[in-house]
Amino acid sequence: MTRNLLLFAILLMGGCRQPSAQPGTTPNPTPVTSTLRSVASFPVGAAINPSLLTGKPLYRQTLETEFSSITSENHLKMRQVHPEKDRYDWSGGNTIVDFANQTGKRMHGHALVWHQSVPDWVTQFKGDSLAWENLLRDHITTVVKQYKGKIASWDVVNEAFLDDGTLRPTLWLQNLGPGYMARSFQYARQADPAVKLFYNEYGQEYSAKKLAAVLAMVADFRKRNIPIDGVGLQMHTNIDHPDAQIENAIRQTAATGLLVHISELDVRVNQAKTANFSPTDALWQRQKAKYQAIATAYRTIVPPAQQHGITTWNVSDADSWIPSFCQCNDFPLPFDKDFKKKAAYDGFLTGLKP
Ligand code: XIL
Repeated sequence: MTRNLLLFAILLMGGCRQPSAQPGTTPNPTPVTSTLRSVASFPVGAAINPSLLTGKPLYRQTLETEFSSITSENHLKMRQVHPEKDRYDWSGGNTIVDFANQTGKRMHGHALVWHQSVPDWVTQFKGDSLAWENLLRDHITTVVKQYKGKIASWDVVNEAFLDDGTLRPTLWLQNLGPGYMARSFQYARQADPAVKLFYNEYGQEYSAKKLAAVLAMVADFRKRNIPIDGVGLQMHTNIDHPDAQIENAIRQTAATGLLVHISELDVRVNQAKTANFSPTDALWQRQKAKYQAIATAYRTIVPPAQQHGITTWNVSDADSWIPSFCQCNDFPLPFDKDFKKKAAYDGFLTGLKP
């Protein structure tokens, strides 16, 4: 082949990768390399852990290929990032944030104010309300400023309501009063005027009271000009949960006009927590249907401008938090323990496709 012919062939291959279909012609078949992030019109994320990122090549490879957003599973929580009053530990957070920044993925920070993962120096802290206020403000300000420009969005307050819609009696509520939530958002906004601020919660799909409480908080914030950009629906769910309730939670949250993030998705199959559980093909198919239904509901109900994305909590069944949480074996994610795509992956992919 002459040099010109070769150039022509290269141009042809590169230039014609995705011609738009003309009337009367056959459109291109879907590329065999479809990935979660390539088919979705919004970010698709995973919650991740720095030791797996550096120690397990398949984990990193799956993240790079399939996902476009990253959430820190544990390493930006207070216990990890602020282990002593005057000491911050950025090591784990930096590994995650640098990975996201270097691979062009959107970085979501989780979580500034939560009742779990609180360091001992805070649970043992003695001080008046001013001292507690300074503690809260310093923590939020320091962490948000540290990652200014590197983290696109933060879960500012996580899980502040109980299922009955009342405020969870956390050490933050007890020491700071109910206003701690609004002030947390204000401190985060002051530390980074551009970062998107989220309230993150679980169970809006099964508790109408909790859903209403979150929506009332959003309405109150807006009335008082308290900064808030989005709401996270964690969506730790299971194959039995009715689609209609999930759709209702998404619809009502979207009606706030704020960004909506399905922030911690996983779909359990071992509801009865049976020992040595091994799912049948019928259960895998139900898990597939649930992933598809959730992605479809999100894509079709949330207006595009409000789609912050869908994030799964962990990547594969091997690194899921569920088995240690439920003390049972379960398989809640789209990738199996060897990072092979499960039926759930196919359902998720189908639901994400416009
Ligand atoms: C979980 C992590 O996945 C576990 O590794 C850790 O031991 C406990 O926290 N809701 C949240 C997350 O907002 O922060 C939780 O993450 C899961 C439930």
